[in-house]
Amino acid sequence: MTKSMRIGVVFGGKSGEHEVSMESAKSVMAALDPNRYELVPIAIDKQGRWHVGTAATALLAESGWSTQRTLASGDRGLQVRPGSVLPGPIADQIDVLLPVLHGTFGEDGSIQGLFELLNVPYVGAGVAASAVGMDKILMKRVFAAAGLPQVAFVETSRRTWSADPDAVRREVEQKLGYPCFVKPANLGSSVGISKVKGPSELAEAMSLAAQYDRRIIVEQGLDVREIEVAVLGNEQPRVSVPGEVLPSNEFYDYRAKYLDGNSDLVIPADVTDEQAEQIRAYAVRAFRAIDCAGLARVDFFIERASGRVLVNEINTMPGFTQFSMYPKLWEASGLPYEQLLDALIELALERHEDRLKTRHDFSN
Ligand SMILES: Nc1ncnc2c1ncn2[C@@H]1O[C@H](COP(=O)(O)OP(=O)(O)O)[C@@H](O)[C@H]1O
Ligand SMILES: [Mg+2]
Repeated sequence: MTKSMRIGVVFGGKSGEHEVSMESAKSVMAALDPNRYELVPIAIDKQGRWHVGTAATALLAESGWSTQRTLASGDRGLQVRPGSVLPGPIADQIDVLLPVLHGTFGEDGSIQGLFELLNVPYVGAGVAASAVGMDKILMKRVFAAAGLPQVAFVETSRRTWSADPDAVRREVEQKLGYPCFVKPANLGSSVGISKVKGPSELAEAMSLAAQYDRRIIVEQGLDVREIEVAVLGNEQPRVSVPGEVLPSNEFYDYRAKYLDGNSDLVIPADVTDEQAEQIRAYAVRAFRAIDCAGLARVDFFIERASGRVLVNEINTMPGFTQFSMYPKLWEASGLPYEQLLDALIELALERHEDRLKTRHDFSN
């Protein structure tokens, strides 16, 4: 048998989505084929400290997890000095890094930049795609340039709002009207997002969003169905069947996503063949528009009144528990969870090999 590959599973993170990431990591580590892969668990705690091996699994154990798996030689119970990142000597022993991290510092290109510097293959989007996918304003500009249909929006900022709230209000009312959605440009899991139903609610929504980012986006609020598809691949991405989210709250907010567990996923979504084709084609276009790699979940709105399909957003590291939309969409499309992980690791190696072909010097 060939030597098994060492997979560094990175989880936790200094973001609001720490807990979600821990859940995703448990599912991933339980599913990685022990005959093919050795595990090197790598945890980032909420303070941003890195822990490797048993020190990392200890964090998972706090949330009631135990593994019978033998860990690879990264198992040193290593707690990395606060403020420092994954040590080079450990990175050197890892064949592929699998960041199961969501949100700030995990999905926004910062950790991908570290992986590039370490020169270790990693699963998922690179620096630019991660950063653009995380930034709702940049993402919308790139999607617009790619001719993708989206909801109308207004860009603003903490500073513009505090300097002249009336001007912002006028622009919102002229271009969008109510209801509208106010969102921090950079974040996920619906944190800092408000649905604003009238002028009296705007100020509160703005100051909430302004707590989470310097830049703020306001979108026209539509009455929509929420349809999501999974994309997998590098140059020639495949797309899953579409699924629908039925939020348990008025919109798909943090509570509906993670806390009350009552939001339903319908797979495959009940859409027309034409809508399904449009969604799949737009998903590939969105994936390519940001130069994504490995995987992404692309989220759509179907306006109830018109049946119009609009792109809402791309998520470069979607939730990855066994019960999450991304793996379930693949399962329904004939690709079970374990094989999905194999494919992602394969794609990480392929992308890394491709990167190595790039010259970085100008000499002859
Ligand atoms: N323009 C909109 N019209 C209607 N509903 C929206 C709109 N924008 C967001 N929502 C609702 O808010 C949820 C979260 O917004 P989203 O932009 O997807 O943020 P996040 O990146 O945090 O998931 C969506 O899933 C949807 O339920
Ligand atoms: Mg979303």
